[in-house]
Amino acid sequence: MHIHNLSETPSILNTFIAEIRDKTIQKDSMRFRRNIERIGEILGLELSKSLHFEPHDIETPLGVSKTELHKNDIVLCSILRAGVPLHSGLLNYFDAAENAFISAYRQHKHNPESFEIVVEYLACPSLENKTLILADPMLATGQSMVATFEALKPFGTPKEIHLVSVIGAQKGVDYVAKAFNADTNLWIAAVDNTLNDKGYIIPGLGDAGDLAFGNK
Ligand code: URA
Repeated sequence: MHIHNLSETPSILNTFIAEIRDKTIQKDSMRFRRNIERIGEILGLELSKSLHFEPHDIETPLGVSKTELHKNDIVLCSILRAGVPLHSGLLNYFDAAENAFISAYRQHKHNPESFEIVVEYLACPSLENKTLILADPMLATGQSMVATFEALKPFGTPKEIHLVSVIGAQKGVDYVAKAFNADTNLWIAAVDNTLNDKGYIIPGLGDAGDLAFGNK
């Protein structure tokens, strides 16, 4: 797997990551969602540099401007509910993408002994020969990402796969690196060292779904 950890090169992205982690700032759920969206836009921009581009002429009122445009048929798939703001950010840039949504949650929330991933809802167009972008903001164990990909298999074989996450734990990054093909890309804004015994990323930011959508 090609791992692109954007925080290795300090940029304005660090400011947005700092804000979503900061317990005094993250309480503002509108700002939290907007920051995740902004991170999605930056990750999308970086990802776009690896897409397939072809020459294109644009007729302006005064002449012809030569450029290159990407020609990928993109399907953007996100995991409900925490994935929604990240999905919005990616969709701001890949505005012609088809969209897929899946609900996947950790059984753990109901049964503390279990880390099993439960998939209940799935809406997805054909993935055959398309560019699949699979977005999950918190890559903790990596199991949701892998369970989602398994659930998407009946929809066809994508030409290429890009995984997009905001914060990951090293364990989750290693897990997806083993589960996906070597030519899969992971675009991630930060990677933390550890997980706690409940599967939360440490230091991470807490529960991204609760921060974005209430349940304080
Ligand atoms: N999901 C979250 O929202 N936070 C974590 O730390 C791990 C998974």
